Amino acid sequence: MYTLNSHNSIMKNEVIKYLNIINNGIYIDGTFGSGGHSLIILEKLSTNSKLFVFDKDINSINIAKLIKDSRFFYKHSSFTEIKNFLNKKKLLGKVNGIIIDLGISKDQIFNSKRGFTFLKNEILDMRMDNTIGIPAFLWLKKASIKDINKVFNKFGEEYKYSKQISEYIYNYNKHNTIKYTFELIKIINLFHKKKYKRINNVTKYFQAIRIFINNELYNIKKLLSDIVDILDINGRLIIISFNSLETKIIKNFFNIKNYNINNIPLHYKDKRNFINIKNNLYMKKIIKLKPNKEEIIKNKSSRSAIMTIFEKKMILLK
Ligand SMILES: C[S@@+](CC[C@H](N)C(=O)[O-])C[C@H]1O[C@@H](n2cnc3c(N)ncnc32)[C@H](O)[C@@H]1O
Repeated sequence: MYTLNSHNSIMKNEVIKYLNIINNGIYIDGTFGSGGHSLIILEKLSTNSKLFVFDKDINSINIAKLIKDSRFFYKHSSFTEIKNFLNKKKLLGKVNGIIIDLGISKDQIFNSKRGFTFLKNEILDMRMDNTIGIPAFLWLKKASIKDINKVFNKFGEEYKYSKQISEYIYNYNKHNTIKYTFELIKIINLFHKKKYKRINNVTKYFQAIRIFINNELYNIKKLLSDIVDILDINGRLIIISFNSLETKIIKNFFNIKNYNINNIPLHYKDKRNFINIKNNLYMKKIIKLKPNKEEIIKNKSSRSAIMTIFEKKMILLK
């Protein structure tokens, strides 16, 4: 069972500090999880403010239903739908702050029984939203060697044995079905005889399948491409990433180098912490932070977290 506030929410103080909460504001928690961030945001909201929360996992939404607060609204949906949602509510461009805490929650790891962890022998499902799509084991059963290998390379950055493992999975799945996490682990370990120093040998394979099954990197890009439309001027985006693939997307997405900058006044061109140019609006990077030592000691899984904060700005034409 999922429970309210069971996740060790990352960098709570920093979330509150950098959301810059204002009176009568509109806020969004795009990854409600078990509500830790939402609860501290609610503590700081004025009576006429609103907090909209989203999560792909129906179990998370079921615990959101436990929060009885007239300022609080939940929706079972991906954060990629936020723009559509706001459009329908006539709130597009009116959001003052949004938090996106990527990755999976403690409840998903320990209580979902969906095979997110290699520590438990569970069905290899890995869908955050298990009301749509197909479980990971069925994808593995249908996929070609090339496709499996591509996922291990692209989303797990595993190259050395990935082709051999993909071939083995493909051939094994012709007559059997790799349905459980421990079956997959056994196969990976047939090839990875030497232990990695810092992480378990199977970590990156699990990460790769999860990212693929949930379309995680596309989701981040979609949200970032909508964010200028979603936020009000001076509205903030706080995004917490957990792996180098996510962090790279966030780092590069608003970088001026990746845009056609002909229409930008010269005095802006030398500022590196830019940009998404739409009607002279852009996203300025405010700061990038990591959890402090105490937090990492208390919550080991916070060690890979990177929090990036952006603010929507308007280009002032000289
Ligand atoms: C790390 S947890 C969030 C924890 C939360 N901040 C808290 O304090 O409890 C990540 C959550 O994001 C959800 N999630 C991941 N991708 C999502 C997406 N594209 N749209 C909505 N929710 C998503 C997962 O289902 C999971 O519940």
